[in-house]
Amino acid sequence: MNPSAKLRVGIAGLGRLGKRHASQLAWRIRDCELVAACSPVPEELDWARQEFGVRGHAELEAMLVDPDIDAIVLVTPTSLHADQAIAALQAGKHVFVEKPLALEASDCERVEAVARRHPAQVVMVGFVRRFDASYRQAHADILAGRIGRPFMVRSQTCDLNDEQGFFVRFSPTSGGIFMDCSVHDIDLARWMLGSPRALRVFASGTIALHPGLAEFGDVDNGMALVEFEGGARAVLYASRTQAHGHETSTEVIGTAGSLSIGAGAARDRIVTRDSHGVRHAATADFFERFGDAFQREMAAFVAACLGHQPAPLALGDATQATRIAQALARSLRSGQPEPV
Ligand SMILES: NC(=O)c1ccc[n+]([C@@H]2O[C@H](COP(=O)([O-])OP(=O)(O)OC[C@H]3O[C@@H](n4cnc5c(N)ncnc54)[C@H](O)[C@@H]3O)[C@@H](O)[C@H]2O)c1
Repeated sequence: MNPSAKLRVGIAGLGRLGKRHASQLAWRIRDCELVAACSPVPEELDWARQEFGVRGHAELEAMLVDPDIDAIVLVTPTSLHADQAIAALQAGKHVFVEKPLALEASDCERVEAVARRHPAQVVMVGFVRRFDASYRQAHADILAGRIGRPFMVRSQTCDLNDEQGFFVRFSPTSGGIFMDCSVHDIDLARWMLGSPRALRVFASGTIALHPGLAEFGDVDNGMALVEFEGGARAVLYASRTQAHGHETSTEVIGTAGSLSIGAGAARDRIVTRDSHGVRHAATADFFERFGDAFQREMAAFVAACLGHQPAPLALGDATQATRIAQALARSLRSGQPEPV
């Protein structure tokens, strides 16, 4: 570790989320220093140099050979995650990689195998909801037995409609709606249910507003059913076309009660009652909803790299999430239930 005992971080990917992570790392996370950034897009690199005074690299390889970098944060297209995570591990760096770990479970397993050969390095996948205060409290309540034995999860990830259809162009590298959106709900469901193994899934979906998705076999509204070993079940919904805002919500049902997190997408605690009725404002996007959680997640990664606490997530969970999302994508195409 470097003498200043600060973690020196290089970030790869400066798009929608990468810019946010870069700002967090530069300004809001203790004990770390953003020292380098990588993107093939010159304007993005210029932005990072000006904003943070970091070294800029057009290629990841250049960042990986820099001995003054301890950790790499990958916020690149999902299709690149596995190979980039492996290259970073082999270069001796700690790795934070955005969700999902890869589009194929076999690629996740390749990362797991390399990680096993580098046990002193942290590898963490960005399942940000595990760092949200409400989801954490719900999980602690379930562990404390407050709803009895949890056996059912209903969870959704629903985005405000984006008329520009960013996600349409993004579909081939994101893996489609289940891999891109529902993978969060899959991970949450397994976390809340005690990490059961999935046996079988069924998925369906429809295109409500974005016909361009048909070319990629994708949909803008997807529904899914996941059957777990031991009898637990999850029902998932993902949408790209909501009118009111971003609404991530989850209900966990147990033998002695249920818990609901995030229903209604309230942006704050203001409720207006007037001649139009009763209403509240909704969160606009995932970052507004999970801004604090993104910060807590990155703080946990930095603390783990510095040896202050154990790595908070197991890579095997990321592999399971990809495996289930892959089966859902298969089911969407086949129209049949699919084994996981
Ligand atoms: N945790 C969450 O809730 C959440 C939310 C949004 C996105 N994500 C994940 O973050 C990742 C990025 O998503 P995004 O929306 O920011 O995408 P984006 O397309 O906006 O950004 C991708 C970035 O990667 C860069 N890039 C492309 N090829 C590269 C390469 N070979 N080396 C280095 N950089 C390269 C691009 O220039 C761009 O800066 C995806 O895996 C996505 O699933 C997670």
